[in-house]
Amino acid sequence: MYLTIPLILLFSRTILCSNILGVFMFPSISHQIVYQPIWKELSLRGHNVTVVTPNPLNDPSLTNLTEISVHFTYDFLKQTKIQELMSKDVNVFQNLDAIFRFMDAIAEAELNSTQFKQLIDDQSKQFDLILIECFHPVMYALSGRFKAPIIGVSSLGVLAAGYDIVGNPTHPVLYPDVLLSFHDKELSLWQKTKSVMFSLWSRYYHHNILVPRAHEMAKKYFGKDIPYVGDLEKNQSMLFLNVNPLMYPPRPTVPAIVEMGQMHIKPVKPLPQDLQKILDDATEGVVYFSLGSNVKSVNLAETLRTTIIEALSELPYQVLWKWESDHLEGKPKNVVTRKWLPQQDILAHPNIRAFVTQGGLQSTEEAISRGVPLIGMPFMGDQPMNVQKIIDMGIGLGVDPVTVNKEELKNCIIEVAEDKKYNRRIKEVRDLLYDKPMTGLEKVVWWSEYVIRHKGAKHLRSPTADISWFNYLLVDVILTAVVIISIIIYVGFKAIQLSSVHRNDKHKIL
Ligand SMILES: *[C@@H]1O[C@H](CO)[C@@H](O)[C@H](O)[C@H]1NC(C)=O
Ligand SMILES: *[C@@H]1O[C@H](CO)[C@@H](O)[C@H](O)[C@H]1NC(C)=O
Repeated sequence: MYLTIPLILLFSRTILCSNILGVFMFPSISHQIVYQPIWKELSLRGHNVTVVTPNPLNDPSLTNLTEISVHFTYDFLKQTKIQELMSKDVNVFQNLDAIFRFMDAIAEAELNSTQFKQLIDDQSKQFDLILIECFHPVMYALSGRFKAPIIGVSSLGVLAAGYDIVGNPTHPVLYPDVLLSFHDKELSLWQKTKSVMFSLWSRYYHHNILVPRAHEMAKKYFGKDIPYVGDLEKNQSMLFLNVNPLMYPPRPTVPAIVEMGQMHIKPVKPLPQDLQKILDDATEGVVYFSLGSNVKSVNLAETLRTTIIEALSELPYQVLWKWESDHLEGKPKNVVTRKWLPQQDILAHPNIRAFVTQGGLQSTEEAISRGVPLIGMPFMGDQPMNVQKIIDMGIGLGVDPVTVNKEELKNCIIEVAEDKKYNRRIKEVRDLLYDKPMTGLEKVVWWSEYVIRHKGAKHLRSPTADISWFNYLLVDVILTAVVIISIIIYVGFKAIQLSSVHRNDKHKIL
């Protein structure tokens, strides 16, 4: 008994010096803020962490952390209109390829960047664990290069192929993909068919188009001998997903999937003085308006912008608008704009009555954690699904940015700000969300070190990951059953026939 305690200390000591590589490729701050606490925390626990990211923390106090910035990839976002590519009004079947071509370009530019290249070519480098933002399969080549276990990480869910890789069952009717903009509780026959078709198409696309293309890219940057990227991807140890059972329908998950959640929520910090004064003085209440970091308010179509300005001007509240430019033409008297705002801290102010949002997952989680009801205005990606969830949970209302008019927007905001039921409900939801044995970050750190300790997590691998679809769908068993039943029916039928022939013969004899 006395011996075990120092042994445990010794054991955790050896763990404290692991080398961890993190590659978080996607240039979007709303994704990166989910990952930043992971690499910060792992380095604070004494691991030697190297990270490739478009959003380095640049914190000199983190002495065990090396950050390779690929911030230049934000230029791709400016050039490509990702907003249009992933808009809820386009055909996802057609656009899947365009979305991944865009990912190709980002991945290739990062692999081509000097520092990342140096890291890949540095023969002295060794890693005990690699964390990969699983948005592009080429990054799995890193596990072939460094011979280290890999954990996939996503700031939201993954497509069907992503679940298949770890053997997690997916049901297209119960869990339609987030890119399909229908999230009614019960799907129509047409929606069900579309969801099944999309899950088949996205799998076909992944295995037969995307992965082969990624493998060609991998050969270019990791050498011809790199194992097939599809095999490396299948070899991943675990998958960390930023989902929670309130925003996503609860689903069965295999042990290799770890749900994170509320990764980026920080303790409330004091506001800058000017903002503190604006909020303190606004005793009639404040509406906070921000469309997040991908859908910028300045990029809105002119008609929508006019509608919003008119609606806001008629509100009996102050409005704080994240407007990413110095000038807002026709700015109403009750509106204050800033290019950037400390959203989590603003939402914590008691005078905030409602939050108009694009419905991004991170913004929604922030509103829930601060108890501020929402008005969702979804544009793309998972936003329509999240806004539907906001409505279903009773923590706010939603408007369609394509059809909304001034009256509708104004009435929605006033209803959410005035009717206490939204406020009560969002606080109940907050209590549900936070009632759990471990925070998302604690889970992530624990499971990362688990994979390091055991050099992978093979024993947690679901057999579903390795079974063929033929076996999974019981095709052979069903065929055998059909054959046996057919034989029985055939024999039975013949027997009846024979016996009746026999009876007829008897009649004849008589
Ligand atoms: C860096 O790692 C060492 C152990 O490897 C640890 O003692 C130290 O506290 C870490 N420093 C920081 C700032 O996290
Ligand atoms: C899969 O991972 C294990 C370690 O977890 C490693 O030994 C094996 O070589 C990997 N397979 C491939 C194809 O890389």
